[in-house]
Amino acid sequence: MAITTTDRITLSPNLKIQQGTFHVAVWGCQMNVYDADRIRDLMSAAGYVEQAEPNGADIIILVTCAVRAKAEDKVFNQLGAWRHQGVTDDHTIIALGGCVGAELAEQILKLDPTIAIVFGPRTAHRLPHMVSSYKATGDKVVDVQAEALEKFDALPEQGQRGPSAFVTIMEGCSNKCSYCIVPYTRGEEDSRPEQDILDEIVTHIDHGVKEINLLGQNVNSYRGLTPDGQVSSFANLLYEVAAIPGLERLRFTTSNPMEFTDDIIAAIHDLPVIADYIHIPVQSGSDRILKLMRRNYTADSYRELVAKLRQARPNIYISTDIIVGFPGETDEDFAETMRLVNDVKFDSGFSFIYSKRPGTPAAELDDPVPLEHKKQNLYVLQETLEKYAQQYSQGMLGTTQRVLVEGVSRKNAHELKARTSNNRVVILEGDRDLIGQMVTVNITEVMTHTLRGVRC
Ligand code: SAH
Ligand code: SF4
Ligand code: F3S
Repeated sequence: MAITTTDRITLSPNLKIQQGTFHVAVWGCQMNVYDADRIRDLMSAAGYVEQAEPNGADIIILVTCAVRAKAEDKVFNQLGAWRHQGVTDDHTIIALGGCVGAELAEQILKLDPTIAIVFGPRTAHRLPHMVSSYKATGDKVVDVQAEALEKFDALPEQGQRGPSAFVTIMEGCSNKCSYCIVPYTRGEEDSRPEQDILDEIVTHIDHGVKEINLLGQNVNSYRGLTPDGQVSSFANLLYEVAAIPGLERLRFTTSNPMEFTDDIIAAIHDLPVIADYIHIPVQSGSDRILKLMRRNYTADSYRELVAKLRQARPNIYISTDIIVGFPGETDEDFAETMRLVNDVKFDSGFSFIYSKRPGTPAAELDDPVPLEHKKQNLYVLQETLEKYAQQYSQGMLGTTQRVLVEGVSRKNAHELKARTSNNRVVILEGDRDLIGQMVTVNITEVMTHTLRGVRC
């Protein structure tokens, strides 16, 4: 079967209205969630009808993550399981997108011959054209290359979202940390123009969104153009966004410790709309490992950054990401990580065992430490992170919190799920018409991963 690439697909603005159903499955980070939402807007605008379950959908769209080998395997396992269960059949059009799409491109057709279309994070906007081309010719389509910002210009207006919405402010990453595949899947970093971002946020707020989460792999290095052709900065963007009427809460992720400049800290101090929560991945507490990771900061400069942030915003909660078992990590290196964790006392943390990613510089390094030893260290680290997370939650008992009601509780359909400024989930009783509203609650109970609150 022939493979067609984009230069043979014309991007007509007047694609004929299509018929059929689609289902979107998404893995990975918030940037994928944003892309998946935009794919929904796009497919709906083309005439397709979304279905919440994959069973029997005409088109199944997979928005995938390649950050660790496990994330990648999940997608192929899922496809196998669906086939086995009869969820998909020979007529289902399977379109694999996201970071695995960009990473493996044509190879994917060999790994799973039932896949008809391969696209990447930068070519999501061409998906309806790829589907039409495949339907018309039966030729498989692999299309993963595009300019970083092309997608944003080609997307239809935002659809209706919940009370909180993601807004991608930049695509790609140029940092090239030695372990990370993202620069190779999402490409070099480029920032969206400031006005495009502000317009997108205004549309969301007109649709009832209360909270905006600005997204990028390294938001601190945002350098979009202003309407008069000047280069903006992340701090400047924060002031501009904060001035939009109707915005109740502003979050951003991810901030790299390297470029966390004083003007960003000043914006966090000046702008109460910015939430009391910030995610700053440290990755390791050992300077030797940080150097091998090419992170360009030290454990002490990270400690100083945290101290400055806590001075600017005494209530700020800080979370982090840590990689355990980077090639050659010794027990001394790991002890340095534990020392940092105990110094900073993170409010919460995500930790992962290092996963070798093909094509990254770290994949060339010797990695003599047995997996079992890495797993033991991960366990020790996670116990400690959990201990601090519990302490912070206990400290919230009896406090009054402004929360945004996000929806119905997953465990009990008669209860609501809300989120505090410092990113803790609160379960409360109340009518469904509170969804989308900011309410004030008293924290009455601390559960394992959530809090319970009562309206006051
Ligand atoms: N841009 C963000 C991180 C994006 S990837 C930043 O620089 O902070 C999300 C997290 O996945 C990273 O913070 C890191 O902890 C983890 N990660 C990335 N590559 C990994 C790998 N090869 N193995 C294990 N964890 C990895
Ligand atoms: Fe990966 Fe580093 Fe870029 Fe984060 S900053 S996406 S870890 S290369
Ligand atoms: Fe995964 Fe790509 Fe995000 S690799 S973490 S989906 S940028």
